Amino acid sequence: EINMNDLVNKIEKLKKEKDAVILAHYYVEDEVQEIADYVGDSFYLAQIATKVKESTIVFCGVSFMGESAKILNPDKTVLMPDETADCPMAHMATIEKIEKIKSDYEDVAVVCYVNSSAELKSHSDVCVTSSNALKIVRSLPNKNIFFIPDENLGRYVAKKVPEKNFIFNDGYCPIHKEMTKENLIKTKEYYPNAEVLIHPECTEDVLEMADYIGSTAGIIDYATKSDTDEFIIVTELGVLYELKNKNPNKKFYNLGCGQCCPDMKKITLEKVLNALKNNETKVELDKELRTKAYAPLEKMLKLGK
Ligand code: 13P
Ligand code: SF4
Repeated sequence: EINMNDLVNKIEKLKKEKDAVILAHYYVEDEVQEIADYVGDSFYLAQIATKVKESTIVFCGVSFMGESAKILNPDKTVLMPDETADCPMAHMATIEKIEKIKSDYEDVAVVCYVNSSAELKSHSDVCVTSSNALKIVRSLPNKNIFFIPDENLGRYVAKKVPEKNFIFNDGYCPIHKEMTKENLIKTKEYYPNAEVLIHPECTEDVLEMADYIGSTAGIIDYATKSDTDEFIIVTELGVLYELKNKNPNKKFYNLGCGQCCPDMKKITLEKVLNALKNNETKVELDKELRTKAYAPLEKMLKLGK
């Protein structure tokens, strides 16, 4: 069995040799977040991927994140430690439906949550993440918004931007869907003074109970600045690592129903080491797809800032 220190030292050494930088999402395992150079929410990671100097990015997250990094930085090598780590929601829309909506509505913007395949992005007008969706949708000139793939985030944005007409798609995150109102009510009964922090991928009935709704980074930031010292966390529990690091004296509760994204948890230190050692698995996208998917991502970086 390889010891943990040994593994970390080998990763550090190879990272320098290979001119690589490690990016990680807040949902990956604690020890992977610990060795990463940059940890953040989806928007931050897309932004930072365009700023790093290193020629290789090791992306500890799911495939849409690595794809976005590659689309934005075609000259860099982007490595995924586990190429099977994929977000199921990223595939929950179809090109046929997008094309149909485009032909049915004259003045429509296809707004694509970054949790989507490169293929879906390539047929969209602009990408958004949970941290910039409100800002970006408000700034669009179009009256009609076709929001893909996530219906829950779409409905949340629609409520906040009533001046626009939304068309929804039926995609969802299976992990956030399991975080039910019933569980939240029970948890709130145990901890009536805790503030409830919820990711907008949760269903509408759950979101109604929130004191704060936001991205993973938004949730961490809110809890860190809040005067309250106990919180019910309604998202994937990988965020606890940073929440506890930043707030060692605050208490964080969960719904007792998992709140675990198995795809994010596929990334291990061993796989990060192998990725660096063997230069795998490289994100490769065909040039036409890459160029088409670049426009909506670039627009997000511009409008979302
Ligand atoms: P964030 O952009 O909030 O980090 O969310 C990513 C994600 O996959 C949520 O399930
Ligand atoms: Fe996808 Fe849900 Fe996992 Fe986020 S938590 S990566 S939306 S499956």
